[in-house]
Amino acid sequence: MSQFETPLFTGLLEHMKKHPIQFHIPGHKKGAGMDPEFRDFIGENALSIDLINIGPLDDLHHPKGIIKRAQELAAEAFGADYTFFSVQGTSGAIMAMVMSVAGPGDKIIVPRNVHKSVMSAIVFSGATPIFIHPEIDKELGISHGITPESVEKALKQHPDAKGVLVINPTYFGIAGDLKKIVEISHSYHVPVLVDEAHGAHIHFHEDLPLSAMQAGADMSATSVHKLGGSLTQSSILNVREGLVSAKHVQAILSMLMTTSTSYLLLASLDVARKRLATQGRELIEKAIQLAEKTRRQINEIPYLYCVGKEILGTEATYHYDPTKLIISVKELGLTGYDVEKWLREMYNIEVELSDLYNILCIITPGDTERETDALVHALRHLSEQFRHQAARGAKPKVLLPDIPALALTPRDAFYAETEVVPFEKSVGRIIAEFIMVYPPGIPIFIPGEIITQENLNYIKKNLEVGLPVQGPEDDTLQTLRVIKEHKPIR
Ligand SMILES: Cc1ncc(COP(=O)(O)O)c(C=O)c1O
Repeated sequence: MSQFETPLFTGLLEHMKKHPIQFHIPGHKKGAGMDPEFRDFIGENALSIDLINIGPLDDLHHPKGIIKRAQELAAEAFGADYTFFSVQGTSGAIMAMVMSVAGPGDKIIVPRNVHKSVMSAIVFSGATPIFIHPEIDKELGISHGITPESVEKALKQHPDAKGVLVINPTYFGIAGDLKKIVEISHSYHVPVLVDEAHGAHIHFHEDLPLSAMQAGADMSATSVHKLGGSLTQSSILNVREGLVSAKHVQAILSMLMTTSTSYLLLASLDVARKRLATQGRELIEKAIQLAEKTRRQINEIPYLYCVGKEILGTEATYHYDPTKLIISVKELGLTGYDVEKWLREMYNIEVELSDLYNILCIITPGDTERETDALVHALRHLSEQFRHQAARGAKPKVLLPDIPALALTPRDAFYAETEVVPFEKSVGRIIAEFIMVYPPGIPIFIPGEIITQENLNYIKKNLEVGLPVQGPEDDTLQTLRVIKEHKPIR
Protein backbone atom coordinates (compact mmCIF):
# COMPACT_ATOMS: atom_id res chain seq x y z
CA MET A 1 0.00 0.00 0.00
CA SER A 2 1.27 3.45 -0.81
CA GLN A 3 -0.08 6.70 0.62
CA PHE A 4 -0.09 8.06 -2.93
CA GLU A 5 -2.90 5.62 -3.83
CA THR A 6 -6.55 6.66 -3.63
CA PRO A 7 -8.41 3.35 -4.04
CA LEU A 8 -11.84 4.81 -3.39
CA PHE A 9 -11.60 7.87 -5.60
CA THR A 10 -9.81 5.93 -8.35
CA GLY A 11 -12.40 3.13 -8.14
CA LEU A 12 -15.20 5.65 -8.59
CA LEU A 13 -13.48 7.22 -11.60
CA GLU A 14 -12.94 3.82 -13.21
CA HIS A 15 -16.58 2.93 -12.67
CA MET A 16 -17.76 6.27 -14.05
CA LYS A 17 -15.58 5.91 -17.19
CA LYS A 18 -17.38 2.68 -18.09
CA HIS A 19 -20.60 4.73 -18.45
CA PRO A 20 -22.88 2.03 -16.99
CA ILE A 21 -26.61 2.36 -17.68
CA GLN A 22 -27.99 3.10 -14.23
CA PHE A 23 -31.25 1.63 -13.02
CA HIS A 24 -30.46 2.48 -9.40
CA ILE A 25 -30.64 5.46 -7.07
CA PRO A 26 -29.82 8.32 -6.97
CA GLY A 27 -32.72 9.03 -9.30
CA HIS A 28 -31.10 12.16 -10.73
CA LYS A 29 -28.97 9.72 -12.85
CA LYS A 30 -25.73 11.68 -13.09
CA GLY A 31 -27.70 14.92 -13.04
CA ALA A 32 -29.91 14.18 -16.08
CA GLY A 33 -33.03 14.11 -13.93
CA MET A 34 -32.15 17.14 -11.88
CA ASP A 35 -32.98 20.82 -11.89
CA PRO A 36 -30.79 22.15 -14.76
CA GLU A 37 -29.66 25.30 -12.94
CA PHE A 38 -28.30 23.28 -10.03
CA ARG A 39 -26.87 20.62 -12.37
CA ASP A 40 -24.95 23.24 -14.34
CA PHE A 41 -23.71 24.86 -11.19
CA ILE A 42 -22.49 21.64 -9.55
CA GLY A 43 -21.05 20.25 -12.75
CA GLU A 44 -21.20 16.83 -14.34
CA ASN A 45 -17.99 15.54 -12.75
CA ALA A 46 -19.36 15.80 -9.24
CA LEU A 47 -22.76 14.38 -10.28
CA SER A 48 -21.20 11.43 -12.08
CA ILE A 49 -19.69 10.15 -8.83
CA ASP A 50 -22.75 10.86 -6.70
CA LEU A 51 -23.39 7.13 -6.55
CA ILE A 52 -24.60 4.48 -4.15
CA ASN A 53 -23.30 1.23 -2.66
CA ILE A 54 -23.69 -0.97 -5.75
CA GLY A 55 -21.41 -4.05 -6.02
CA PRO A 56 -18.27 -2.53 -7.58
CA LEU A 57 -18.34 0.44 -5.21
CA ASP A 58 -18.25 -1.45 -1.90
CA ASP A 59 -20.41 -0.63 1.13
CA LEU A 60 -19.38 1.49 4.11
CA HIS A 61 -21.47 -0.75 6.35
CA HIS A 62 -19.63 -3.95 5.33
CA PRO A 63 -16.48 -2.77 3.54
CA LYS A 64 -14.61 -5.44 1.61
CA GLY A 65 -13.24 -3.58 -1.43
CA ILE A 66 -12.29 -0.01 -2.26
CA ILE A 67 -13.71 1.47 0.97
CA LYS A 68 -11.87 -1.11 3.06
CA ARG A 69 -8.59 -0.27 1.33
CA ALA A 70 -9.19 3.47 1.69
CA GLN A 71 -9.88 3.01 5.42
CA GLU A 72 -6.72 0.91 5.84
CA LEU A 73 -4.64 3.63 4.21
CA ALA A 74 -6.26 6.20 6.51
CA ALA A 75 -5.46 4.03 9.55
CA GLU A 76 -1.81 3.89 8.47
CA ALA A 77 -1.70 7.67 7.88
CA PHE A 78 -3.35 8.55 11.23
CA GLY A 79 -1.38 5.95 13.24
CA ALA A 80 -4.49 3.93 14.16
CA ASP A 81 -5.13 0.19 14.16
CA TYR A 82 -8.43 0.84 12.38
CA THR A 83 -10.03 3.89 10.83
CA PHE A 84 -13.72 4.11 9.98
CA PHE A 85 -15.17 6.75 7.71
CA SER A 86 -18.15 8.80 8.88
CA VAL A 87 -20.53 10.66 6.60
CA GLN A 88 -22.30 12.01 9.66
CA GLY A 89 -19.54 14.35 10.67
CA THR A 90 -17.58 14.09 13.86
CA SER A 91 -20.88 14.25 15.72
CA GLY A 92 -21.70 10.76 14.37
CA ALA A 93 -18.23 9.48 15.24
CA ILE A 94 -18.41 10.94 18.76
CA MET A 95 -21.79 9.30 19.38
CA ALA A 96 -20.35 5.96 18.25
CA MET A 97 -17.31 6.37 20.55
CA VAL A 98 -19.42 7.15 23.60
CA MET A 99 -22.08 4.50 22.92
CA SER A 100 -19.46 1.84 22.30
CA VAL A 101 -18.07 2.14 25.83
CA ALA A 102 -21.01 3.27 28.00
CA GLY A 103 -24.49 1.80 28.36
CA PRO A 104 -27.40 2.52 30.70
CA GLY A 105 -26.17 3.45 34.18
CA ASP A 106 -22.48 3.33 33.22
CA LYS A 107 -20.30 6.24 34.24
CA ILE A 108 -18.31 8.23 31.72
CA ILE A 109 -15.90 11.01 32.70
CA VAL A 110 -16.28 14.08 30.51
CA PRO A 111 -15.32 17.74 30.63
CA ARG A 112 -18.40 19.92 31.11
CA ASN A 113 -17.57 22.02 28.03
CA VAL A 114 -18.20 19.14 25.62
CA HIS A 115 -19.86 19.51 22.24
CA LYS A 116 -23.58 18.72 22.20
CA SER A 117 -22.97 15.44 20.34
CA VAL A 118 -21.33 14.03 23.50
CA MET A 119 -24.36 14.96 25.57
CA SER A 120 -26.73 13.58 22.92
CA ALA A 121 -24.82 10.28 23.07
CA ILE A 122 -25.11 10.32 26.86
CA VAL A 123 -28.89 10.76 26.55
CA PHE A 124 -29.14 7.97 23.93
CA SER A 125 -26.96 5.56 25.90
CA GLY A 126 -28.40 6.29 29.35
CA ALA A 127 -24.89 6.74 30.76
CA THR A 128 -24.20 8.93 33.76
CA PRO A 129 -21.75 11.76 33.09
CA ILE A 130 -19.12 12.48 35.70
CA PHE A 131 -18.21 16.06 34.91
CA ILE A 132 -14.75 17.53 35.18
CA HIS A 133 -14.44 21.30 35.35
CA PRO A 134 -12.39 22.53 32.42
CA GLU A 135 -9.77 25.16 33.23
CA ILE A 136 -11.32 28.59 32.71
CA ASP A 137 -9.36 31.45 31.19
CA LYS A 138 -10.79 34.52 32.92
CA GLU A 139 -8.84 36.96 30.71
CA LEU A 140 -10.16 35.54 27.44
CA GLY A 141 -13.53 34.30 28.69
CA ILE A 142 -13.05 30.83 27.22
CA SER A 143 -12.59 27.37 28.69
CA HIS A 144 -9.60 25.20 27.96
CA GLY A 145 -9.12 21.48 28.43
CA ILE A 146 -8.94 19.29 31.51
CA THR A 147 -5.80 18.59 33.51
CA PRO A 148 -4.18 15.21 34.27
CA GLU A 149 -4.66 16.01 37.95
CA SER A 150 -8.43 16.40 37.55
CA VAL A 151 -8.61 13.13 35.57
CA GLU A 152 -6.67 11.35 38.32
CA LYS A 153 -9.05 12.77 40.93
CA ALA A 154 -12.13 11.74 38.94
CA LEU A 155 -10.79 8.21 38.40
CA LYS A 156 -9.90 7.82 42.10
CA GLN A 157 -13.50 8.64 42.95
CA HIS A 158 -14.97 6.66 40.05
CA PRO A 159 -12.59 3.81 39.17
CA ASP A 160 -15.57 1.98 37.62
CA ALA A 161 -15.94 4.63 34.87
CA LYS A 162 -16.14 3.13 31.39
CA GLY A 163 -14.27 5.90 29.64
CA VAL A 164 -12.60 9.30 29.84
CA LEU A 165 -13.47 11.76 27.09
CA VAL A 166 -10.99 14.53 26.27
CA ILE A 167 -11.30 17.46 23.86
CA ASN A 168 -7.91 17.73 22.17
CA PRO A 169 -7.33 20.40 20.99
CA THR A 170 -10.22 22.68 21.90
CA TYR A 171 -12.07 24.75 19.30
CA PHE A 172 -9.59 27.53 20.12
CA GLY A 173 -6.63 25.20 19.48
CA ILE A 174 -5.50 24.69 23.09
CA ALA A 175 -4.35 21.22 24.19
CA GLY A 176 -3.72 19.70 27.61
CA ASP A 177 -1.17 17.00 28.42
CA LEU A 178 -3.02 14.24 26.60
CA LYS A 179 -0.20 11.70 26.94
CA LYS A 180 -0.27 12.01 30.72
CA ILE A 181 -4.09 11.79 30.77
CA VAL A 182 -3.84 8.58 28.70
CA GLU A 183 -1.21 7.11 31.05
CA ILE A 184 -3.34 7.87 34.11
CA SER A 185 -6.53 6.49 32.55
CA HIS A 186 -4.81 3.35 31.31
CA SER A 187 -3.43 2.72 34.79
CA TYR A 188 -7.12 2.30 35.75
CA HIS A 189 -7.77 0.24 32.54
CA VAL A 190 -10.13 2.96 31.39
CA PRO A 191 -10.11 3.85 27.67
CA VAL A 192 -9.57 7.42 26.48
CA LEU A 193 -11.91 8.82 23.83
CA VAL A 194 -10.72 11.96 22.11
CA ASP A 195 -12.90 14.59 20.49
CA GLU A 196 -10.39 15.60 17.81
CA ALA A 197 -12.87 17.69 15.82
CA HIS A 198 -10.32 20.50 15.62
CA GLY A 199 -7.22 18.40 15.15
CA ALA A 200 -7.31 16.54 11.83
CA HIS A 201 -4.00 18.16 10.85
CA ILE A 202 -2.06 17.91 14.12
CA HIS A 203 -0.82 14.38 13.45
CA PHE A 204 1.13 15.65 10.45
CA HIS A 205 3.38 18.32 11.95
CA GLU A 206 5.74 17.91 14.88
CA ASP A 207 5.21 21.49 16.18
CA LEU A 208 1.49 20.91 16.73
CA PRO A 209 -0.02 19.21 19.80
CA LEU A 210 0.21 15.40 19.89
CA SER A 211 -2.65 13.72 18.08
CA ALA A 212 -4.85 11.26 19.93
CA MET A 213 -3.18 8.28 18.30
CA GLN A 214 0.33 9.68 18.98
CA ALA A 215 -0.61 10.12 22.64
CA GLY A 216 -1.76 6.49 22.89
CA ALA A 217 -5.51 7.19 23.17
CA ASP A 218 -7.99 4.43 22.35
CA MET A 219 -10.31 6.28 19.98
CA SER A 220 -10.52 9.63 18.28
CA ALA A 221 -13.29 11.29 16.32
CA THR A 222 -11.49 13.51 13.86
CA SER A 223 -13.08 16.16 11.61
CA VAL A 224 -11.13 15.72 8.41
CA HIS A 225 -13.65 18.12 6.89
CA LYS A 226 -12.79 20.91 9.31
CA LEU A 227 -9.00 21.14 9.02
CA GLY A 228 -7.92 18.18 6.92
CA GLY A 229 -9.21 19.23 3.51
CA SER A 230 -12.20 16.91 2.84
CA LEU A 231 -15.80 17.90 2.13
CA THR A 232 -18.09 19.14 4.89
CA GLN A 233 -19.67 16.34 6.93
CA SER A 234 -16.90 13.78 6.25
CA SER A 235 -14.98 12.62 9.32
CA ILE A 236 -13.12 9.59 10.62
CA LEU A 237 -13.12 7.49 13.75
CA ASN A 238 -9.67 6.15 14.66
CA VAL A 239 -9.41 3.10 16.90
CA ARG A 240 -6.55 1.50 18.81
CA GLU A 241 -7.43 -2.06 19.75
CA GLY A 242 -6.96 -3.29 23.30
CA LEU A 243 -9.27 -1.60 25.76
CA VAL A 244 -11.90 -1.21 23.00
CA SER A 245 -12.95 -3.59 20.27
CA ALA A 246 -12.81 -2.18 16.74
CA LYS A 247 -15.57 -4.56 15.58
CA HIS A 248 -17.92 -3.33 18.29
CA VAL A 249 -17.15 0.33 17.50
CA GLN A 250 -17.76 -0.32 13.81
CA ALA A 251 -21.11 -1.98 14.57
CA ILE A 252 -22.27 1.01 16.65
CA LEU A 253 -21.09 3.51 14.03
CA SER A 254 -23.02 1.56 11.42
CA MET A 255 -26.17 1.70 13.58
CA LEU A 256 -25.94 5.47 13.69
CA MET A 257 -25.07 6.01 10.03
CA THR A 258 -27.31 6.52 7.03
CA THR A 259 -27.44 3.57 4.61
CA SER A 260 -27.24 6.06 1.73
CA THR A 261 -23.64 7.06 2.20
CA SER A 262 -22.44 9.87 -0.05
CA TYR A 263 -19.58 8.74 -2.29
CA LEU A 264 -18.61 12.35 -2.84
CA LEU A 265 -17.94 12.63 0.89
CA LEU A 266 -16.19 9.26 1.07
CA ALA A 267 -13.96 10.02 -1.94
CA SER A 268 -13.05 13.38 -0.45
CA LEU A 269 -11.81 11.58 2.69
CA ASP A 270 -9.66 9.32 0.52
CA VAL A 271 -7.97 12.20 -1.30
CA ALA A 272 -7.64 14.36 1.84
CA ARG A 273 -5.81 11.48 3.54
CA LYS A 274 -3.44 11.17 0.56
CA ARG A 275 -2.64 14.89 0.64
CA LEU A 276 -2.12 14.95 4.42
CA ALA A 277 0.07 11.85 4.36
CA THR A 278 2.19 12.85 1.38
CA GLN A 279 2.37 16.66 1.59
CA GLY A 280 0.80 17.49 4.95
CA ARG A 281 3.96 18.52 6.76
CA GLU A 282 5.04 21.08 4.19
CA LEU A 283 1.51 22.46 3.70
CA ILE A 284 0.97 22.81 7.45
CA GLU A 285 4.42 24.41 7.88
CA LYS A 286 3.34 27.10 5.41
CA ALA A 287 0.07 27.65 7.27
CA ILE A 288 1.94 27.94 10.61
CA GLN A 289 4.38 30.50 9.16
CA LEU A 290 1.53 32.53 7.68
CA ALA A 291 -0.43 32.42 10.94
CA GLU A 292 2.63 33.47 12.98
CA LYS A 293 3.24 36.44 10.70
CA THR A 294 -0.41 37.46 10.93
CA ARG A 295 -0.33 37.08 14.72
CA ARG A 296 2.66 39.42 14.96
CA GLN A 297 0.92 41.98 12.73
CA ILE A 298 -2.32 41.83 14.74
CA ASN A 299 -0.40 42.27 17.99
CA GLU A 300 1.01 45.56 16.68
CA ILE A 301 -2.55 46.94 16.38
CA PRO A 302 -3.61 48.98 19.45
CA TYR A 303 -6.33 47.43 21.66
CA LEU A 304 -6.22 44.03 19.95
CA TYR A 305 -4.54 40.92 21.31
CA CYS A 306 -3.91 37.77 19.33
CA VAL A 307 -3.12 34.87 21.65
CA GLY A 308 0.29 33.23 21.23
CA LYS A 309 2.60 30.88 23.07
CA GLU A 310 2.56 33.03 26.24
CA ILE A 311 -0.74 31.26 26.98
CA LEU A 312 1.16 28.02 27.62
CA GLY A 313 2.38 26.93 31.00
CA THR A 314 -0.59 25.52 32.86
CA GLU A 315 -1.50 21.84 32.75
CA ALA A 316 -4.57 22.64 30.67
CA THR A 317 -2.57 24.85 28.31
CA TYR A 318 0.22 22.38 27.66
CA HIS A 319 0.38 22.99 23.92
CA TYR A 320 -1.44 25.00 21.28
CA ASP A 321 -2.13 25.14 17.59
CA PRO A 322 -0.66 28.39 16.21
CA THR A 323 -2.83 28.22 13.08
CA LYS A 324 -5.77 29.33 15.24
CA LEU A 325 -5.91 33.10 15.65
CA ILE A 326 -7.83 33.89 18.85
CA ILE A 327 -8.25 37.65 18.71
CA SER A 328 -9.41 39.31 21.91
CA VAL A 329 -11.39 42.49 21.10
CA LYS A 330 -12.73 43.35 24.52
CA GLU A 331 -10.39 46.32 25.04
CA LEU A 332 -12.08 48.05 22.14
CA GLY A 333 -15.29 48.00 24.14
CA LEU A 334 -16.87 45.73 21.52
CA THR A 335 -18.10 42.16 21.65
CA GLY A 336 -16.68 39.50 19.37
CA TYR A 337 -20.07 39.41 17.70
CA ASP A 338 -19.96 43.19 17.02
CA VAL A 339 -16.62 42.66 15.32
CA GLU A 340 -17.87 39.65 13.36
CA LYS A 341 -20.71 41.79 11.96
CA TRP A 342 -18.46 44.79 11.33
CA LEU A 343 -15.95 42.67 9.38
CA ARG A 344 -18.81 41.20 7.32
CA GLU A 345 -20.39 44.53 6.52
CA MET A 346 -17.25 46.60 5.99
CA TYR A 347 -14.84 44.09 4.44
CA ASN A 348 -16.80 41.01 3.36
CA ILE A 349 -14.72 38.97 5.80
CA GLU A 350 -16.27 35.96 7.56
CA VAL A 351 -14.69 34.68 10.78
CA GLU A 352 -14.85 31.13 12.18
CA LEU A 353 -16.66 32.17 15.34
CA SER A 354 -17.22 35.02 17.72
CA ASP A 355 -18.22 35.15 21.35
CA LEU A 356 -18.67 37.89 23.89
CA TYR A 357 -14.99 38.80 23.95
CA ASN A 358 -13.18 37.27 20.96
CA ILE A 359 -13.22 36.34 17.34
CA LEU A 360 -11.53 33.22 16.02
CA CYS A 361 -9.94 33.04 12.56
CA ILE A 362 -8.36 29.89 11.21
CA ILE A 363 -5.40 29.74 8.84
CA THR A 364 -5.04 26.64 6.69
CA PRO A 365 -3.08 25.55 3.61
CA GLY A 366 -5.95 27.17 1.68
CA ASP A 367 -4.84 30.69 2.72
CA THR A 368 -2.29 33.08 1.29
CA GLU A 369 -1.00 36.51 2.28
CA ARG A 370 -3.74 38.02 0.17
CA GLU A 371 -6.35 36.88 2.71
CA THR A 372 -4.29 37.56 5.83
CA ASP A 373 -3.30 41.03 4.58
CA ALA A 374 -7.00 41.79 4.07
CA LEU A 375 -7.72 40.69 7.66
CA VAL A 376 -4.89 42.75 9.14
CA HIS A 377 -5.90 45.79 7.09
CA ALA A 378 -9.51 45.46 8.28
CA LEU A 379 -8.46 45.04 11.92
CA ARG A 380 -6.28 48.17 11.72
CA HIS A 381 -9.31 50.10 10.50
CA LEU A 382 -11.44 48.57 13.28
CA SER A 383 -8.98 49.67 15.95
CA GLU A 384 -8.77 53.15 14.43
CA GLN A 385 -12.56 53.51 14.24
CA PHE A 386 -13.28 52.42 17.81
CA ARG A 387 -10.19 53.64 19.67
CA HIS A 388 -12.11 56.58 21.19
CA GLN A 389 -14.38 54.22 23.12
CA ALA A 390 -11.45 51.98 24.03
CA ALA A 391 -9.59 54.89 25.54
CA ARG A 392 -12.68 55.90 27.54
CA GLY A 393 -13.92 52.57 28.73
CA ALA A 394 -12.59 50.46 31.54
CA LYS A 395 -11.61 46.90 30.68
CA PRO A 396 -14.89 44.97 30.63
CA LYS A 397 -15.36 42.31 33.25
CA VAL A 398 -15.41 38.83 31.75
CA LEU A 399 -18.62 36.98 32.56
CA LEU A 400 -18.52 33.19 32.56
CA PRO A 401 -21.23 31.11 34.16
CA ASP A 402 -20.52 28.46 36.73
CA ILE A 403 -21.33 24.84 35.99
CA PRO A 404 -24.78 24.02 37.37
CA ALA A 405 -25.34 20.99 39.60
CA LEU A 406 -26.74 17.85 37.97
CA ALA A 407 -29.86 16.59 39.74
CA LEU A 408 -30.91 13.83 37.29
CA THR A 409 -29.09 11.90 34.56
CA PRO A 410 -29.52 13.68 31.22
CA ARG A 411 -31.56 10.75 29.91
CA ASP A 412 -33.92 10.65 32.91
CA ALA A 413 -34.44 14.39 32.57
CA PHE A 414 -34.95 14.19 28.83
CA TYR A 415 -37.66 11.53 29.12
CA ALA A 416 -39.28 12.78 32.33
CA GLU A 417 -42.72 14.39 32.62
CA THR A 418 -42.13 18.05 31.88
CA GLU A 419 -43.84 21.41 31.88
CA VAL A 420 -43.13 24.82 30.45
CA VAL A 421 -42.37 27.74 32.78
CA PRO A 422 -41.51 31.40 32.11
CA PHE A 423 -37.75 31.91 31.63
CA GLU A 424 -37.59 34.39 34.51
CA LYS A 425 -39.36 32.00 36.91
CA SER A 426 -37.24 28.96 36.14
CA VAL A 427 -34.49 29.39 38.76
CA GLY A 428 -34.14 26.31 40.96
CA ARG A 429 -36.03 24.06 38.54
CA ILE A 430 -34.47 21.08 36.73
CA ILE A 431 -34.13 21.77 33.04
CA ALA A 432 -35.26 19.17 30.50
CA GLU A 433 -33.63 20.61 27.37
CA PHE A 434 -30.27 21.72 26.03
CA ILE A 435 -29.30 25.39 25.76
CA MET A 436 -26.09 26.37 24.00
CA VAL A 437 -24.48 29.09 21.96
CA TYR A 438 -23.63 27.77 18.50
CA PRO A 439 -20.88 27.88 17.45
CA PRO A 440 -19.13 26.49 19.44
CA GLY A 441 -22.10 24.35 20.52
CA ILE A 442 -21.04 23.94 24.14
CA PRO A 443 -24.07 23.65 26.40
CA ILE A 444 -24.88 26.32 28.98
CA PHE A 445 -27.50 23.88 30.32
CA ILE A 446 -27.93 20.18 29.74
CA PRO A 447 -31.04 18.18 30.67
CA GLY A 448 -30.96 17.31 34.37
CA GLU A 449 -29.17 20.45 35.60
CA ILE A 450 -30.55 22.87 38.17
CA ILE A 451 -31.21 26.29 36.65
CA THR A 452 -29.24 29.11 38.26
CA GLN A 453 -29.79 32.86 38.00
CA GLU A 454 -26.16 33.28 36.99
CA ASN A 455 -26.63 31.04 33.95
CA LEU A 456 -29.87 32.76 32.98
CA ASN A 457 -27.96 36.08 33.10
CA TYR A 458 -25.30 34.60 30.84
CA ILE A 459 -27.96 33.49 28.34
CA LYS A 460 -29.53 36.98 28.43
CA LYS A 461 -26.16 38.60 27.85
CA ASN A 462 -25.52 36.39 24.80
CA LEU A 463 -29.01 37.13 23.46
CA GLU A 464 -28.63 40.87 24.03
CA VAL A 465 -25.52 41.07 21.87
CA GLY A 466 -27.13 38.90 19.17
CA LEU A 467 -25.17 35.65 19.66
CA PRO A 468 -27.01 32.52 18.52
CA VAL A 469 -28.47 30.86 21.61
CA GLN A 470 -29.95 27.55 20.47
CA GLY A 471 -31.51 24.38 21.77
CA PRO A 472 -34.77 25.08 23.59
CA GLU A 473 -38.14 24.34 22.01
CA ASP A 474 -39.11 27.99 22.51
CA ASP A 475 -36.43 29.70 20.47
CA THR A 476 -37.56 33.12 21.70
CA LEU A 477 -36.48 31.91 25.17
CA GLN A 478 -39.56 33.37 26.82
CA THR A 479 -40.10 29.94 28.36
CA LEU A 480 -38.06 26.88 29.32
CA ARG A 481 -39.08 23.23 29.56
CA VAL A 482 -38.44 21.88 33.04
CA ILE A 483 -39.18 18.69 34.98
CA LYS A 484 -42.73 18.73 36.28
CA GLU A 485 -43.08 19.19 40.03
CA HIS A 486 -45.85 17.24 41.69
CA LYS A 487 -47.32 19.32 44.51
CA PRO A 488 -49.18 17.57 47.34
CA ILE A 489 -52.97 17.58 46.90
CA ARG A 490 -54.72 19.69 49.55
C1 LIG B 1 -15.41 20.39 19.89
C2 LIG B 1 -16.30 19.86 18.81
N1 LIG B 1 -16.60 18.54 18.80
C3 LIG B 1 -17.40 18.00 17.86
C4 LIG B 1 -17.92 18.76 16.86
C5 LIG B 1 -18.84 18.11 15.85
O1 LIG B 1 -18.22 18.01 14.61
P1 LIG B 1 -19.10 17.88 13.27
O2 LIG B 1 -19.58 19.27 12.96
O3 LIG B 1 -18.12 17.34 12.28
O4 LIG B 1 -20.20 16.95 13.52
C6 LIG B 1 -17.64 20.14 16.82
C7 LIG B 1 -18.22 20.99 15.76
O5 LIG B 1 -18.08 22.16 15.71
C8 LIG B 1 -16.82 20.69 17.82
O6 LIG B 1 -16.54 22.00 17.84
